[in-house]
Amino acid sequence: MSTAYLNGTFLPLDQAQVSVMDRGFLFGDGVYEVIPVYNGRLFRLAQHLKRLQNSLDGVRIGNPMTENEWTEVLTGLVARNTGSEQAVYLQVTRGVAAKRDHAFPVASRPTVFAMSTPAPAVQDSADEAGIKAITLPDIRWQQCDIKAITLLPNVLLRQQAIDASTAEAILIKNGHATEGAASNVFIVHNGVLVTTPKGPSLLPGITRELVLELASANGIPFREAGITEQALEQAEEIWVTSSTREISPVTHLNDKSVGDGQPGPLWQRMIRLYQDYKQDLRRDAAS
Ligand code: PDD
Repeated sequence: MSTAYLNGTFLPLDQAQVSVMDRGFLFGDGVYEVIPVYNGRLFRLAQHLKRLQNSLDGVRIGNPMTENEWTEVLTGLVARNTGSEQAVYLQVTRGVAAKRDHAFPVASRPTVFAMSTPAPAVQDSADEAGIKAITLPDIRWQQCDIKAITLLPNVLLRQQAIDASTAEAILIKNGHATEGAASNVFIVHNGVLVTTPKGPSLLPGITRELVLELASANGIPFREAGITEQALEQAEEIWVTSSTREISPVTHLNDKSVGDGQPGPLWQRMIRLYQDYKQDLRRDAAS
């Protein structure tokens, strides 16, 4: 049984319990993060904690811990769980209130929960061979830059993708691709890497940011610009990125091949750069 963290205590996951009056349970009133762990180290922790702060600010929940306290809790959690490759999930809700009322309770203490699951080596995953995706209307709210636990639209969209025998839904809003149901979207258009600019329509992905950093450091031309549905359909390559999926090439969109239906050359290059970047961090950790 893996070890979890709940409100100041490490305990077996199956013993972690919260009240049914928790606003996370009643309203989905909370925010979360998913942080990959490579070689026992939390990957890009500072960036995840900064985004957590932005999400908490966005929903007006006070951060229950300092950055140092978060670091201590999360490294403690990783150390208590087995495997050097893990995925840490954390969530902060507005806490438990005496009665169900949409308005914020006058006094409530945020509920802090974190758990870790073993992460399969991405190299082993089928994603390497390319995934299928479909486009679906983006039915979500207007503050998708907040990583809220209120994920019902994302859940329904992802399930629609799965029902269509695909792995991800790419969401369309006002004729443009915003992001995936649980990922950011990149295309290659005339040899240039393009991703949707940050804004309220999408989550500022930590993986997205790293891909842009790697493109910039390695002379790969890139642009942050709107992706029309037509550009998506005609793209030479499509990728979706996330902390758990890393960089997945989409080889089929709406049952049509993307390019020649194989992971493209720019993806081959970027995934190498990404794995090398992780490898360098591994060496740092070992020294
Ligand atoms: N989701 N956009 C959405 C809507 C997401 O849910 C995610 C990640 C991303 C990618 O962000 P990052 O690169 O920081 O993981 C973009 C996580 C993995 C999840 O909900 O499980």
